[in-house]
Amino acid sequence: MVETKLMQQDHFSHQLSEFEVEVECLMEALFLRWGYDFREYTRASLRRRVARYISDNSFERVSDLQNELIKDKKRCNHFVRGLTVNVTDMFRDPSFYRVIREKVVPELRSHPFIKIWHAGCSTGEEAYSMAILLREEGLGDRAVIYATDINSQVLDQASKGVYHDRMLATAQENYQASGARGHFSDFVSVGYERFLIDPELKRNIVFTQHDLVTDQVFGEMQMVVCRNVLIYFRRELQTKVLTLFHDSLDIGGFMGLGIKESLRSLPNQNRFREIDGPARVFQRVD
Ligand SMILES: C[S@@+](CC[C@H](N)C(=O)[O-])C[C@H]1O[C@@H](n2cnc3c(N)ncnc32)[C@H](O)[C@@H]1O
Repeated sequence: MVETKLMQQDHFSHQLSEFEVEVECLMEALFLRWGYDFREYTRASLRRRVARYISDNSFERVSDLQNELIKDKKRCNHFVRGLTVNVTDMFRDPSFYRVIREKVVPELRSHPFIKIWHAGCSTGEEAYSMAILLREEGLGDRAVIYATDINSQVLDQASKGVYHDRMLATAQENYQASGARGHFSDFVSVGYERFLIDPELKRNIVFTQHDLVTDQVFGEMQMVVCRNVLIYFRRELQTKVLTLFHDSLDIGGFMGLGIKESLRSLPNQNRFREIDGPARVFQRVD
């Protein structure tokens, strides 16, 4: 029996359902027409997102969405927003920032100029959290943060630096738990059900579109932070993106991943050494 590549990839012993085949065709169409490559994303989450998108946007079938998407770039952008999970928070998983303060900042101090890349920054909270941390540690003036995402809509939100005030309590709690010394309110102004990031913090952040699957390295970074993105990628794609991060870092540069992400079982794991296991902080070794 001739097995299709898809069946091999997903280790299926049965044929794909109609819906699953349509999702595969949709991913091919999205790539061929607009260059967005979701073909190596894990299927469970991808299928859930497509199912939700067609139901929320009143399409009868995936193929109806595909027809429209091929013709309409705006539909494509809207769909990419629907396909990606953009959940984030200020000082999300605060222990990560505590480890950055304790184990990474002392080494960063030896650099006259610091470049940090936040890949998959979503609506910007992570990049602003890092900017706050660097300012508190006296490194704000010599650091540039490159904050990138595949999704142009979340980047628009990120560059505004305006957030709903229902996020404020969590932001304050996380900030305190991250080993901070000041008050979160020192970095934001609050009003009209929103809080606004201090414009001074924005000065050293460059928000720009970058696709981890199809775009190139960001050179000579002292740190790459990419949290809660690799979990959506299949193993081969995780390996490829890890090489991208390795090649984007200075030797001795640091890498931060999400709490649920691991280098274990990836073929290029030996190119990094663990700085803090639970916080998922690593260092490029070669
Ligand atoms: C769950 S959010 C994580 C946000 C933030 N890093 C955090 O941990 O709070 C995942 C982000 O990765 C982005 N993303 C997904 N695929 C990507 C790709 N191929 N290139 C760049 N960003 C991508 C999504 O658009 C989304 O904003």
